[in-house]
Amino acid sequence: MSDSTITYNQAITGIIGRRFSCRHYDPRPIEPGLRDQLSEMLSASSTGPLGTRMRFELVSAGDGDLTALKGLGTYGFIKGASGFIIGAVGQGEYNMEDYACLLERAVLFATDIGLGTCWLGGTFRKSGFSRKISLKETEILPAAVAVGYVADKPRWFDSYMRRRAGSDNRLPWAELFFDGTFRTPLSTDTAGPFVTPLEMIRLGPSASNKQPWRVIRDGTQWHFYVQRTSGYGRRNTTLFHLADMQRIDMGIAMCHFELTLREMGLSGQWIHAQPGIEKPDELTEYIVTWQGK
Ligand SMILES: Cc1cc2nc3c(=O)[nH]c(=O)nc-3n(C[C@H](O)[C@H](O)[C@H](O)COP(=O)(O)O)c2cc1C
Repeated sequence: MSDSTITYNQAITGIIGRRFSCRHYDPRPIEPGLRDQLSEMLSASSTGPLGTRMRFELVSAGDGDLTALKGLGTYGFIKGASGFIIGAVGQGEYNMEDYACLLERAVLFATDIGLGTCWLGGTFRKSGFSRKISLKETEILPAAVAVGYVADKPRWFDSYMRRRAGSDNRLPWAELFFDGTFRTPLSTDTAGPFVTPLEMIRLGPSASNKQPWRVIRDGTQWHFYVQRTSGYGRRNTTLFHLADMQRIDMGIAMCHFELTLREMGLSGQWIHAQPGIEKPDELTEYIVTWQGK
C-alpha cells in the first residue's frame, strides 16, 4: 500500500494514542488552511491497499455559513460537528476493508492537525449524506466520519456514550493475538518489534467497541481474522441496512498495523494466503495476511 502521499507531523503511535471518538464539538468552522489540507489529503486517497477504488469528500461549514451541513443529520448523537468526511466505494471483495483503511488514514491525519473525529456507521441519515457525494447506483457509502474542533468540556452525554460503548475498555492481548495456533496467546514478551504495531491495533476504534480483530503469527506472516459478534452483523445488515461494520473494523486494524510498521522501518505487503490454521469457532473468518520481509 502506498502511503507516500500522506505526511504526518507527529509519530503515528502518538496520533493513534490521542485519537478518541469525539461526540461533542465546538461548532466553529474548521479554519480554511486545515480544511484545504484535509481535502487535499482526501483527494489523493483513491485506491485501497487491496486495490479497491473509491472517492472521499470533506463537507464542511464555511464562516457563518452552515448550508453545507444541511441534511447531514446524526440523530442527535453528534453535537456541533462542523464537518463530515463522506466516501463512496463500489463493489469488490475487499471494498469494506479498503474503504476503512483509507478513511482511518484520514482520521489520523485530522487528529494530527488537531481536530476531533468520530466514525459513524449507523447514526447518520444515509439519504442526506448520499446526496452530498452524489452516490451512484453502483456505489455504497459504508460509513462517514464527523470532524471538527473538540469542545472544551465533554458533556455528560459524551461520558454516557463512552460508558455505554465501553470505549475505554480494550480486550486483553490474550484474546486478540495468537502465536501459531489460536490456542496459544501471543505475549508482549515474545512478539518482539511487533508489540507496538499490535498494540496500535488494540487502541483502534471499532463499531460498538466490539474489537473483532484477531491476529495470528505464522513465521513471517501475520494472518488477520475477524471474529464476528454473534447476531451483530446480520441484525445490522438486514434490519438496519448497514454496511458490514466488522469488516470496516478490520480495515482500521490494517491501517494502524501498517502505518506503525512503516514508521518503524519494517516493510512487507498485504497478500491473500489463507492458512490451514484451525479456527476457534464458526464466527471467526480469515480476511488477509501481512507478509513481512
Ligand atoms: C465502523 C465504526 C462505526 C461506528 N459508528 C458509530 C456511530 O454510528 N455512532 C457513534 O457514536 N460512534 C460510532 N463509532 C465509534 C465507536 O463506538 C468507538 O470507536 C468505540 O466505542 C471505541 O471508542 P474510541 O473510538 O473512543 O476509542 C463507530 C466506530 C467504528 C469503527
